[in-house]
Amino acid sequence: MQTPSYKEQLYAPYEWYRSMRATRPVFQDPTWGGWQVFSYPEVMRVLSEYATFSSDNQRMAQFEGGEGGMDPIGNSIIRMDPPRHRQLRNLVTQAFTPRIVAQLEPRISAITHDLLDQVITAGEMDVVRDLAYPLPVTVISELLGIPAELREDFKRWSDALVSGDEGTSEEERMQLYQEVQGMYGYFAQVLEERRAHPQNDLVSALLAAEVDGQRLSNVELLGFCGLLLVAGNETTTNLLGNMMLCFDEHPELVERLRANRALVPGAIEEVLRYYSPVKAMVRVTTTETVLGNQHMGANQFVVAWIGSANRDEAEFPNADRFDIEREPNRHIAFGRGIHFCLGAPLARLEGKIALNALLDRLPGNWQVADQPLEMIKSFIVFGAKKLPMTWGA
Ligand code: HEM
Repeated sequence: MQTPSYKEQLYAPYEWYRSMRATRPVFQDPTWGGWQVFSYPEVMRVLSEYATFSSDNQRMAQFEGGEGGMDPIGNSIIRMDPPRHRQLRNLVTQAFTPRIVAQLEPRISAITHDLLDQVITAGEMDVVRDLAYPLPVTVISELLGIPAELREDFKRWSDALVSGDEGTSEEERMQLYQEVQGMYGYFAQVLEERRAHPQNDLVSALLAAEVDGQRLSNVELLGFCGLLLVAGNETTTNLLGNMMLCFDEHPELVERLRANRALVPGAIEEVLRYYSPVKAMVRVTTTETVLGNQHMGANQFVVAWIGSANRDEAEFPNADRFDIEREPNRHIAFGRGIHFCLGAPLARLEGKIALNALLDRLPGNWQVADQPLEMIKSFIVFGAKKLPMTWGA
């Protein structure tokens, strides 16, 4: 088990959130003028009131170094307001139905067991490297119809898409830019191939999807592939890694879950709340408004701290307690409103399959190595880069 001093980086943001919720739950940062929102009801409003808190890429780009234009994710649904958001979301929802997701169960299970086969005899693994990363990336690449051999490229691309927010040098930025361009070049090729030879995969379904005789444009298709790659990857990796951190803090739960699998779905929901894999989402105000007694002007950048809202005592009694039977558990780890995560059923399914497989295959107690945690450098996702662990004790 990790000693608390080795987890300082893990706990630090939660201490900051707690003090901000208590003192300045809606706060205009004097250094850069943007707003930061920490309390549950206010974060819910920012995420769901799209008419006041816009996701539009043009509005965002002015605060993000004007790079919005080069980036197809900037042209994807996560960076759009209605009515265009509604049209495109309807289109992609057609290709990404709960039925398609449910059909993936046997395949996700097979991938999970194959991954565990490779480490089981060693009696140790890095749960990020050996399971939490390869599982979702393999699922997404199969969904998109892209060969799993490109996994390593995928990893670099999706890392490039979520990094670069904190302490990135100009040189690193250029490198990231080139990685991202490489990825779009690759997807453009795949689109051409599938257009010529449609197959039974998500890319072909996206190419065929129509609403009112309208199809996705090339840039929108690229944006959606890029979005799925990031949204479906880093996030689910961190759900699985963060799950291990929760069990490391509560080792007794492993035996309880092993004996009672009905508790598995609740445990996954609680991981999503307790160490939310997406810690923040951003919006821009379209008009003046009042939020948590604070007057906000129009055209202001707003950071909604999901990680903080999910620990708000006013919504979650004993919010800092990890309780797999928490009822109700109205966490907002998948967002709220029109942008609610399209991949939530898939993420939940992967979490359930992975946890059940771990409970079946890793006997005894689970122990995360007592080493300092290195957290991912990102403003959006929350998780550890490595989590070496052993079992069987
Ligand atoms: C534990 C895993 C995941 C978490 C915590 C997560 C979290 C989120 C959040 C918070 C949003 C809302 C964004 C906003 O309001 O601006 C979102 C949107 C989205 N997510 Fe996820 N996600 C996860 C997994 C996935 C997966 C597996 C996929 C797809 C394969 C996916 C696809 C999407 C898409 C396409 C959107 C945009 C929806 C829209 O704008 O209408 N996510 N996700």
